[in-house]
Amino acid sequence: MDNLIVDRSNRLAPASYKLCGVTISPPVVLAPMADITNGSFRRIARKIGGAGLVVTELISTAALHFGSKRTHEMFDITDDQHPVAVQLFGSDAHHMAEAARIAAAAGADIIDINMGCWVPKVCKTGAGAAMMRDEDTACRVTEAIVKAVPLPVTVKMRAGWDYGHFATAGLAVRLQNVGVMGIALHARYAVQGHTGSADWRLIAAIKDAVTIPVVGNGDIKCANDGLRMFQETGCDGVMVGRAAIGNPWLLREIAALLTTGVVPPPPTPQQRVQTALEHLEDLAATIGEPRAVRHLRGQLPHYARGLRNAARLRELMHSAETLGDAAVAFKVLEPFATDEAADEA
Ligand SMILES: Cc1cc2nc3c(=O)[nH]c(=O)nc-3n(C[C@H](O)[C@H](O)[C@H](O)COP(=O)(O)O)c2cc1C
Repeated sequence: MDNLIVDRSNRLAPASYKLCGVTISPPVVLAPMADITNGSFRRIARKIGGAGLVVTELISTAALHFGSKRTHEMFDITDDQHPVAVQLFGSDAHHMAEAARIAAAAGADIIDINMGCWVPKVCKTGAGAAMMRDEDTACRVTEAIVKAVPLPVTVKMRAGWDYGHFATAGLAVRLQNVGVMGIALHARYAVQGHTGSADWRLIAAIKDAVTIPVVGNGDIKCANDGLRMFQETGCDGVMVGRAAIGNPWLLREIAALLTTGVVPPPPTPQQRVQTALEHLEDLAATIGEPRAVRHLRGQLPHYARGLRNAARLRELMHSAETLGDAAVAFKVLEPFATDEAADEA
């Protein structure tokens, strides 16, 4: 792929943004993703570079309150991840404040509150995106966290609950007034789930409404999308979710495009395979081999997207039980070729 040169004369992207004492530089954030952004993936993303901030998966404050060991393990914050935000969900102010203190003791630099999760299991407890329908509770819970910890507190939210009901700007102002230091907006309505497209105009609208940093999120698929989001919305940072699964290099590509105007060359197939196996080894060292292999069976093949025999790799990974099985499965990609090359052959 040719390197992409862009006109930097109308550069609108800042080099960093600040959440109280924490500087996010470059202003590129790895989105929180349940079952994906565990400690292993955050370490991988950090090692590759480009992320100014990484965020944990959403963590249940009720489970922490009841002493769940598995939930506590989800922090997995190591020295090589900072700055790192811990994302909490819940609707009970006491549990949320208690969880924020636990997260701070576990090494969090920032506490992020989930007001965007739309899945019924979370929303029926009044947590996640359901908070946008009960602004008083949202503000009470947020204020409890702000008072509980000396860390910056941020909120990740949707555009509102239902189409056309753009709730976020009003709520964001109220949250800013109770001490929130930054907002990340996934520019879809909760009822959309992940369907349809993100409406980036809503990011611009929330940016106009508040004075704290606003991070835009939704449908960044390539480095140019990241730059375009800055230019079209005036946001302070961009957040990347699904497109980083199996492609953590995207964060580095966005960061490079913002600062130099050039997208670095993509990783080689060998680098992709090596990183996939490192990812697995790291998780195995963290939670044990059998659990790690089961956990990453579906995710690791994303590292092979576009390569010949990726479908065969997916099949083999489906029944992999050990690190050795995974290493053998990845051998089907050799000698490496892209699908295009396979078509031409
Ligand atoms: C598998 C998966 C898990 C997710 N888990 C979370 C989560 O734990 N907390 C959260 O705030 N958002 C979560 N999200 C939403 C993402 O953070 C992000 O807002 C969304 O995917 C849109 O960004 P994208 O288009 O870059 O993927 C999740 C998304 C996916 C695909």
